[in-house]
Order: sequence, then C-alpha cells, then structure tokens
Amino acid sequence: MTTTPGTADLPDLDALRERGARAYAGASTLDELDDVKAELVGRRGALTAVQRLLGSLDPALRREVGARVNAVRAALAGAEAQRRAALEAERDRVVLAAEALDVTLPPRTPRRGSLHPITETMEAMVDVLAGLGFTAVTGPEVETDWFNFQAMNIPHDHPARGMHDTIYVESLVDADPPGSILLRTHTSPMQTRTMLVQPPPVYIAVPGRVFRQETADATHLPVFHQMESLAVDAGLSFADLRGTLAELCRGLFGPDARIRMRPDHYPFTEPSADVDAWVPAVGDWVELLGSGMVHPNVLRMAGYDPEQVSGFAFGMGVERVAMLRHGIDDLRLFADNDVRFLSAL
Ligand code: DAH
Repeated sequence: MTTTPGTADLPDLDALRERGARAYAGASTLDELDDVKAELVGRRGALTAVQRLLGSLDPALRREVGARVNAVRAALAGAEAQRRAALEAERDRVVLAAEALDVTLPPRTPRRGSLHPITETMEAMVDVLAGLGFTAVTGPEVETDWFNFQAMNIPHDHPARGMHDTIYVESLVDADPPGSILLRTHTSPMQTRTMLVQPPPVYIAVPGRVFRQETADATHLPVFHQMESLAVDAGLSFADLRGTLAELCRGLFGPDARIRMRPDHYPFTEPSADVDAWVPAVGDWVELLGSGMVHPNVLRMAGYDPEQVSGFAFGMGVERVAMLRHGIDDLRLFADNDVRFLSAL
C-alpha cells in the first residue's frame, strides 16, 4: 500500500524561504551567490526537492503546496536578483576604478630632440653667408679623383696629396672624367662642380662631411665637416674676401670678433692666406680657416676665363667653430652620440 505524504511530511517552506533569502544576502561574491542558488533551486537544491514531492501529493494538497512553492521560488528569485545587482555594481566599480583616467596626473610630454651642435653650427654659418648673398649647395661625399684633386690644381704627383690621404673606393664605376673614386677629403670639389654647370657670377656656401686618414684624438677625427665658400664674379678682389670673412666671423663669434690673415699656400688659391679669428669668449687668436683668391688654373679647368672673372674661396672646419662656440675641448664628443653631452649644449 502506498502512503501519500501529508503536509506534516513536507519541509518548512517559510523557513526555507528565510534561510534562502539570508544566504543570498550574505553572499559576498558572484561565485558565492551562484553556489547559494545551486543549493536552493539547482538540480539538487532544497526547493527543487520539495517540488519533486509534489507529484506524489493529493491533487488538492498538490495545488496548495505548489502555490506556496511558487511563492517561495519567486521570493528567492527576488532576493537573488537584488544581491546580484549589488555584487555586479561593486565589480564594475572596481574594474572601472582600475581603468580610470586620472586627469590630475602630469602629462607625459614626448622628449623633444634638438639639432646636433655640428648641424646647428653649419646652419649658423650658412645663415651669415646667406645674408651676404651666398646660396647653400651640397655635393657628393663619394667623389672622383678629378674633382677632389686634379680640378683643384692638385695633380697626381702633387705633395699636397700627402695631407689628404683618404679611403679609395675601387674604381668599379666608370667615372667621367675617368679616375679613381674616393671619399672626398674636402668640400672644395663643389667649386668646380658648380662652375661647370652655371655661368658666373657664383656665390655658394657648401656645408658637408669630409674624410681623411686620421687616428681619432682630441683634435682629429677621420670623419668631420667643412664649410666651403666660393665667390666668382667680375672684379672680385682680396678686399672682398677679407670683408666677407670679417663679417662671417662677427656673425659666428659676436660683434667684437676680428680677423687677421697670414700668408700660406694652397694649390687652388693664389695668393692664399690662413685666417685667425679673435674670439672674445676665448680671449685669444685662434686659427680658423684657409682662404685665397681662386687660382686661374681652377677657373680655367671649370670653363671660366680668368681674364674675365676673378674669385675668392675659403674653407673651414665646422667642428672647430662648434668647439669655440660651445667651449668644448675634445672633438670626439661630437661623434660619441652621448645624449647627456648633446642635451647640455
Ligand atoms: N680645402 C682645404 C682643406 O681641406 C680648405 C681650404 C683652404 C679651402 C683654402 C679653400 C681655400 O677654399 O681657399 O684643407
């Protein structure tokens, strides 16, 4: 004989509802909340167990108990939803706080670079010369023997080549005019390159990198920079050279700077002069550059007529001027690429 359970055999639904509501309210994480939910209404949950019993009840009792089970289920669902909303809000608050944009933080400004002192010095030189009517041009660092030497009045057997040893690039290239290919030892070859492609007058400034066979020390580098300048026009004289150099010097070292000229020799100028500058910041004369009136042979090789035009030229080391302007005593600092040095200037 089967017995039909009565009300007395059923668990206390009110107690179950209260226990469940407290358990939901006490869940401190969403995981805990899910655990509580499984214990109450999961497949093996307490309320689910009551529901299973319903089938074995008298129809009248089943209806009554079924209604109470539904009421408890609804009450528990409400308690769960309330707690879930609170826990989710808390979770979102934590996540958002971690990702928050703190507008009171100081901005991370990108570090601005600056011009290398060599570049800055070349630009300063070009600035002064541009003010005197010179145009800046640049030329190839890999040069032919003809432009670097022969057109500068330095034939193959000339002793001046001894001071201009450099790196020779194998003559794989069919150079025109023929000759070996080398890393230029000065910026002077741009004199001829310019004159060959344009008629006089010529007023150019040539900043650029040059190469020499040197062992690096405080005053020598195998790679350094020069600023060449050439002026060719009708009736240019030594006085024009002197005036240009004096102005350049004042532009670089201040209004009290002065120059003095000493006779010297360069194959591509006649007469030639070395120029010293009185640099107020140094308080002494410093040897600055080589200069002179362009040699008639150089004009002729470039297709100009020395009877019609005359010219002056000068060439100076950029590193030397940069050292004087910034009070630096070791040339190698310019090539070390140490940002502490570069940003201190
Ligand atoms: N080219 C020379 C050198 O590298 C510098 C120089 C001297 C250039 C006298 C000139 C000049 O134009 O007239 O040593």
